[in-house]
Amino acid sequence: MTPAIQNLISRIQNHRCYSHPIFMHWAQVDPEPEVIGALFHQIQNFCAATRPGGNFPAALDLLGMNQQSGLMQEIVESEQDHGPELAMMAGHIINRAAQRQIHPDLQDQAAIEKSLKECSDRFLGSLPGYDPASGLTVQARAAIAVFDRRQRTDLDSTFRNMGSALALEMISNRHLIPGEKLCLVDSGLYRASLDEPEMHYLLEHWGEIGAEQMHEKNAVDAVTHLLTEESVRPITQGADEFLDSLAGLWDVLDASLLRSGYTDDRLAA
Ligand SMILES: [Fe+2]
Ligand SMILES: [Fe+2]
Repeated sequence: MTPAIQNLISRIQNHRCYSHPIFMHWAQVDPEPEVIGALFHQIQNFCAATRPGGNFPAALDLLGMNQQSGLMQEIVESEQDHGPELAMMAGHIINRAAQRQIHPDLQDQAAIEKSLKECSDRFLGSLPGYDPASGLTVQARAAIAVFDRRQRTDLDSTFRNMGSALALEMISNRHLIPGEKLCLVDSGLYRASLDEPEMHYLLEHWGEIGAEQMHEKNAVDAVTHLLTEESVRPITQGADEFLDSLAGLWDVLDASLLRSGYTDDRLAA
C-alpha cells in the first residue's frame, strides 16, 4: 500500500463517523417499534441514494480512468435490487419488536416504506427543515446530496466522487453493516438471526464473503492508482463531505430517537 492511500484510509478511520455510537445506543435503548420505523425511514432513503452510479462510471471512462470505471461499475451492479430486501428486514424487525404483525406482507416494499415514513413524520416531523413530502431530515438530505454529484462528469467532481465512494464503502463494511448486525442480531432484542430469509439483506452484506468487503476492496484499488498531487485534494474533500454529512445524520437520529450521550450507567439507572 502506498503512503498516500494509507494516509487517506487512516483519515477515514479516524473520522468520528467511523466509530459513531448510534448502533450501540440502538442496542442499549431498545427503541419502540415506531421509533425503529423512523430510524429505518432515514437509513433506507440514505442507502437508496448511494446505490445508483449515475454518470460516475461513464465519467471515469471518458476521463481515461478505465480501470476505476470497471471497479465502480461492479459495485453499482452488485447493489441492484437491495431495496426490497432492506424493506423486508425493516418490516420483520418491527414485527418482532411489536410482537405482532404490524407488517403482515414483508414482500410489500411500498406498504412497508409508507409506514416507515409515517413513523418518521410522527417522531421527526417537527425538526427544523424536515421535508413533509419526502419525510427527510435536513441532515438526511445533505447526506443524499453528496451522491447527486454523480450526475456531474467534470474532473474535479469525478475525483470528489471517488473520495466519497471510498469513504462510503469503508463505512458500509466497517461501521454501518457491523452496526446493524450489532443492534438487530447480536443484541438479541429481536430474536433475529442471519439464517432467517427475512434477514437476507444483512447476510448478503456482512462479513468476509459479504458484498461490502468486495466493494471496499474495489474502492481502495481504484483510489490507490489515482492518488497524485493533483487529485489528492479533491479526493480527500469528497471523502470528508461524505463522512461529515453522514455523521450529521447519525447525530440527529441519535439525539432525537435514541439517547445520545447517555452512558451505560445512566441507562441502567
Ligand atoms: Fe446493498
Ligand atoms: Fe457497498
